[in-house]
Amino acid sequence: MTDRYCVMGNPVEHSKSPWIHARFAQLAGQDMEYHKRLVPMDGFAAALQRFREEGGKGCNITVPFKFEAAPLATKLSARAALAGACNVLKFDGDEVIADNTDGIGLVSDLIRNAGVTFARHDVLVVGAGGAAAGVLGPLIEAKPRSIVVANRTQAKAQFLIDRHAELAEHHRVRLGAPELQHVRDTFDIVINATATSMSGEAAPISAEVLRRGTVAVDLMYGPASRAFLEWAQRHGAQARDGLGMLVEQAAEAFLFWRGVRPPSGPVLAELRATLA
Ligand code: ATR
Repeated sequence: MTDRYCVMGNPVEHSKSPWIHARFAQLAGQDMEYHKRLVPMDGFAAALQRFREEGGKGCNITVPFKFEAAPLATKLSARAALAGACNVLKFDGDEVIADNTDGIGLVSDLIRNAGVTFARHDVLVVGAGGAAAGVLGPLIEAKPRSIVVANRTQAKAQFLIDRHAELAEHHRVRLGAPELQHVRDTFDIVINATATSMSGEAAPISAEVLRRGTVAVDLMYGPASRAFLEWAQRHGAQARDGLGMLVEQAAEAFLFWRGVRPPSGPVLAELRATLA
């Protein structure tokens, strides 16, 4: 019988995940089916239970359920525990195993598809909400020289770096959480983990953080990333949207489910061409 997977979210209509996983399955020769499920705002636990009873093998989880999903798991990967959220579940008998592949997706996209190196580089993460929490652990594991988390509400950035202090010490990465308006250094990599682009605003940070060649990444793609990307390009940075992260987090989820890493580079190129 064909193994079944899905993505659960609300809204979920525009999710690219079914297309991405169908291409992965074709290219990796895996017999599986993947669909999207619109889940009522107050119905996530019930929807999860139903899909397990139907024989589903696992699912992706997208907004707004990533935080609700983590406590429903019987096993949590270290990075999902650090993020406090998960974007992928695998069903194995009575076990519901959770992981978070968003951060490793971002790091993989930067290294594999954008040719970015982290060693001796300084990283700025703007924002300290769920999206930032999802990527900070894997960014530390990529071993840059330092990571600054800057957020409108400084206390949230401080809380986030405190939670990651041990991991950072282990990898010898310097962490900081200065007030947003006091960030004036330039960075090699700037990551927009706020949703400000959605309202047509660029990142809530001084353009002084950018220099020629800085890689400036928005975790979103499409219109939601446009304002940030235009701002970054205007100031000489190399702008990158979150489409590569989307494909790479999916490749890591596919690996988690199937034990095979699909060819993500060609699928990203196809997806870009489709959306162009
Ligand atoms: P997500 O899960 O997508 O990260 P979130 O948890 O609501 O969503 O976090 C949104 C992030 O964008 C937060 O860091 C938020 O700053 P605050 O913690 O101060 O709320 C940031 N953000 C949203 N709108 C912003 C704006 N207009 N200016 C600056 N930061 C903004």
